[in-house]
Amino acid sequence: MSDLPLTQRLDALVASAADLVAGTGDLDALHALDVELTGRRSLLVEAKRELGSLEEDDRRAAGQAINEARQRVEDLIAARRSELAAQQRQARIEAERLDLTEREPARTGRLHLVTQARDHLEDVFVGMGFTVAEGPEVETDFYNFEALNLPPSHPARGMWDTFYVDVGDPGTVLLRTHTSPVQIRVMEATEPPICSIMPGRVYRRDTADATHTPVFHQIEGLVVDEGISFADLAGTLDAFTRAYFGRQVRSRLRPSYFPFTEPSAEYDISCVFCGGVGCRSCGGTGWLELGGCGMVHPNVFAAVGYDPERWTGFAFGFGIDRMTAQRHGVDDLRDLFTNDIRFLEQF
Ligand code: DAH
Repeated sequence: MSDLPLTQRLDALVASAADLVAGTGDLDALHALDVELTGRRSLLVEAKRELGSLEEDDRRAAGQAINEARQRVEDLIAARRSELAAQQRQARIEAERLDLTEREPARTGRLHLVTQARDHLEDVFVGMGFTVAEGPEVETDFYNFEALNLPPSHPARGMWDTFYVDVGDPGTVLLRTHTSPVQIRVMEATEPPICSIMPGRVYRRDTADATHTPVFHQIEGLVVDEGISFADLAGTLDAFTRAYFGRQVRSRLRPSYFPFTEPSAEYDISCVFCGGVGCRSCGGTGWLELGGCGMVHPNVFAAVGYDPERWTGFAFGFGIDRMTAQRHGVDDLRDLFTNDIRFLEQF
């Protein structure tokens, strides 16, 4: 090799270095090659030793050529180093990959039909500006009845067949028979204006049949502010009806009685199956009953310390289960709660 002129030898050295560098498979091999190509015993260092025997001008040119060759070899090695490092990193990521995909997608769970309905109702009301509140299922007589203008032995208490809990004085603790006690809790906790819905589970001592279950779900609504009128109630329920059931569905209010509202009304919607003509689902009436509503009774405001002269409001409450059952053509409410997976999987 030393017979050839220096520049040619250097070019050959760089060319073979390029091949060797490209052929390395990992960082260890590259490091070894680096020592061989640029270390103390390398040809590059050896070539420098020859400089001493050259004339000054030749020596400067040769020195420069050696430095340039060294630089090119170092650049080659550096480029390969970052390539190999990236490959190794990628290989490690692959090796540590965790497969988190479900093996049996058919066995994933789903929300219960009633939960889906509750979520949908919440979405619609939240879209109308309502907030969502919750209260306990085990209640006291005060919240479930007394504060709702149902003093002890009020005849209307018979509207709700109550499960009592064996805690404290007899008849003082019960499973809430409706979501209306949450109205009281919300008003106790906040000042008006209030615009809330209160969904949840309720209990009644009913014998289960196709249209009754001892456990079911309601959604309560409460709006309190200055100057709230019956027209606000009707307008809100009508807007809700269209948003939840569709633009073609109409709502109506019929006079009724509830101790906690005055005046009170029943809230019906035009039958979603026959469009109001009359069919089996609506018993030929063209209307489906959803629940009760009315203007909050002044005694209810008094019970929570609101001034009935200043505040007015409306409330409503309707059953979620029956409505969902109607919507999906489920003709026996008990199917919702016997937890037969073959039934539940349909929704
Ligand atoms: N709590 C009543 C029930 O379960 C339903 C109801 C009627 C709720 C009128 C209300 C209301 O908020 O204003 O039968």
